[in-house]
Amino acid sequence: MWVYLNDKFVPQEEAVVSVFDHGFLYGDGVYETLRAYRGRVFKLAEHLARLERSASRIQLHLPAGPERLTDLVGEALRRNQLSDSYLRITVSRGTGEIGLDPALCKTPTLVIIARPFQPYPESIYAEGVSVIVARTRRNLPEALPPQVKSLNFLNNILAKMEAKAAGAHEALMLNHRGDITEGTTSNVFVFQEGRLQTPSVECGILDGITRELVLQLASELGIPWEETRLTIEDLMRAEECFLTNTTQEVLSVTRVDGQMIGDGRPGGITRRLHASLRACLDRFLGGT
Ligand code: PDD
Repeated sequence: MWVYLNDKFVPQEEAVVSVFDHGFLYGDGVYETLRAYRGRVFKLAEHLARLERSASRIQLHLPAGPERLTDLVGEALRRNQLSDSYLRITVSRGTGEIGLDPALCKTPTLVIIARPFQPYPESIYAEGVSVIVARTRRNLPEALPPQVKSLNFLNNILAKMEAKAAGAHEALMLNHRGDITEGTTSNVFVFQEGRLQTPSVECGILDGITRELVLQLASELGIPWEETRLTIEDLMRAEECFLTNTTQEVLSVTRVDGQMIGDGRPGGITRRLHASLRACLDRFLGGT
């Protein structure tokens, strides 16, 4: 496999970053996860815009603009002869002496990895997944804004470890007020009393690109929705619950902390929204 590192594509064995890279030393950097279907990256412009927003919030100047990144992502797919792919763009502060000051790093490190997409088992869509509510709280927005998709992922990793220990697919994190925020790598929705609800950005979440698309699709389908505050009780009495992200699309949650949601099977609204996302994808891919 070929990996783009700083200024060229290199074989993955040679794609090595310095131990003085501040991404490694401090988690100082940002990233995006993207998904290509039949050789085309879905919502590429939105991902590149979020990368730029994340970078600017930590005063990191991206070493390549959206046009250059678009070319590089396309090249990463072509060189690796990938059609269905998982891509990751990582930008760290760069290599510099030890110390927190970003000025110690002269040039950011840019890495683009493209991998064959490993599909999730169809059974998780057919049956839904179980999640837990983690003891680990989501980072305070005033401490490390969840809207920055940063390399500093330990908050999410700690919650993911809880999910794994409990045999659950995902862990939902609460914020400091005890409201639901999001999963470790996904946004969360509930459907109750005829209304789709998802935690607002103000609750301390990453403004997911799939989340945004699902809200748009809900509007098109005439499903009322709101961005709001959700408690564990809201979650437990929901008729339906699902997760969204770039790689999993829309994934039904049928158990929370071992308790069944709705009738314990993926609900109709969840299935309609997923079908609608797939139709949107088909339109995007139309003719390819
Ligand atoms: N994660 N919330 C968090 C904390 C995330 O890390 C992600 C994405 C999402 C969903 O965002 P989107 O719909 O834009 O993928 C929400 C990706 C998949 C990852 O970290 O690999």
